[in-house]
Amino acid sequence: MPAETTTPPPVPEAAVPAEAVAPLIRGVRVLRELTEAGGTLSLSGLERATGLARSTVDRITSTLARMGYVRLDGRDAVTTPRLMELGNAYLAALRLPALLSPRADALADELDESVSLAVADRDGIRFIHQATRRRAMSLSFRIGDLLPAERTAPGPLFASEWTDENWRAWRERRAADPVNRGFSAVPPRELPFPDSEFEARAAQAGRDGWALDDQLIEPGLVAVSVPVRDPRTGRIACVANVVSHTSRHTAADLRDTLLPRLRATVAEMERELAAAPDPDPGPPPSGSAAWIGASKHELGREFIESLARGLTVLTAFGEGRAALTLTDVARATGLARATARRALITYEHLGLVRGQPESRTFGLTPRVLSLGFPPLSRTSLPRIAAPHLADLSARVGESTALAVLVSSGPTAEIQYTARAVSPRIMGVDIRVGTRLPAAATSLGRVLLSDPEDSAASAGFARVRSQGYALLDEAWEDGLRTLAVPLRDRTGRAVAAVNVALHAAGRTAEECVAEILPELRLTASRIEQELHAAGHFTRVPLL
Ligand code: PHB
Repeated sequence: MPAETTTPPPVPEAAVPAEAVAPLIRGVRVLRELTEAGGTLSLSGLERATGLARSTVDRITSTLARMGYVRLDGRDAVTTPRLMELGNAYLAALRLPALLSPRADALADELDESVSLAVADRDGIRFIHQATRRRAMSLSFRIGDLLPAERTAPGPLFASEWTDENWRAWRERRAADPVNRGFSAVPPRELPFPDSEFEARAAQAGRDGWALDDQLIEPGLVAVSVPVRDPRTGRIACVANVVSHTSRHTAADLRDTLLPRLRATVAEMERELAAAPDPDPGPPPSGSAAWIGASKHELGREFIESLARGLTVLTAFGEGRAALTLTDVARATGLARATARRALITYEHLGLVRGQPESRTFGLTPRVLSLGFPPLSRTSLPRIAAPHLADLSARVGESTALAVLVSSGPTAEIQYTARAVSPRIMGVDIRVGTRLPAAATSLGRVLLSDPEDSAASAGFARVRSQGYALLDEAWEDGLRTLAVPLRDRTGRAVAAVNVALHAAGRTAEECVAEILPELRLTASRIEQELHAAGHFTRVPLL
């Protein structure tokens, strides 16, 4: 065994149930290793990390690619933002991010410090929201990162509710992994502290109703935490944290100056939870069973149906769909009951789903966030778009670009944020970062025509109604460009994509007939990923 391994040390594992779906277990292993590697791993790297045969890795990655969850880029498998659908299903079902993140963000603005929300994940804590400050001196965790409870401020608060069984599991893990190698988000602990120290912190946190982290993760990093209680059960729903650096606040300082404001925010959060109406169950995903059958027909051996079916089960959950019966899951996914049941048994075994025997329902656990979420939660629109622009450029043999509006009014400008050049010698050459007058470019015109910008949009009614702009650009002789908008989840045009070509190459009519459908296809692929990424994170536009 190599010394550097991402797999946690051997805490005794429960035996695999006879009905578990082996290909689903292997597929989840591949997704976990890809996530641990930051979202990209070569196929041979995956083979080593998972211990699976190369042919198995190939079949799993082609199945995931077909589902839009990974992209195969040469020898690498790369997770795509579509994979965030799985974590989004958990976060939407949980509802806490939607209900509480506005208050967390407002507190971060007020204090000018990072504020986060974390839930308990067995004997660890996992982040479900981050309102992060941009500072040089700040290490900040990503949504979905898992930390050992004993090295955090929320940990002792959650531990104040632990059962004997929880404590036993925690001691076992500590004995097997005293330096936290199983937690890739934190540096290893060089001098492990005795169990009794955390036991005392948990008892104290239970009495105080708040807790501190005085550089338990890293020198300089300090945090103060307060539990947000579920108004129905009185138990801790999540913990709100203010995180700082010793260059600004000592831990004692955090307690004296910021704890009162954190407590006030938590009181508001608890009122928010108490007042929240029951969620409207959103629509389940549109029946996927038919799609899976077609993919199998097309790809044959390279498509693992049982993996695709199993992953679909996770997307049956969502807002207003937190606790589903087997019948609900089968209906939402279009899968046979027996298939849905075996997938749920597999997920329970993997700790991704928890069954509620009294109500005969199942729900997702925070561990679903370990399937791709942390690295993807830090993506940006240019990064999402880049592979799609390259693909479009290869399909149409022309240069393509992405741009955003960077100012408004009569002198509005666009800025190029990503592009892909065609292999032609006479290609269009506009570098990322270039700014141009918006009204003089097709990219700018589709952005100015968006109804939101009502003053500017008046002149571009036609662009708006046809959904694209086609222009012979005045600033470069012979350059013809065609652009369409990219819309966020709310329908607002946040960026535009274009194809730029030599006017001599295609007439305006040929551009519309031949290029526009390809451009629209690319825009819709980018939008799908942008919407998945933007559900619970803010995706930077440049
Ligand atoms: C964080 O949100 O980054 C955070 C929260 C609690 C800790 C440490 C870090 O104890």
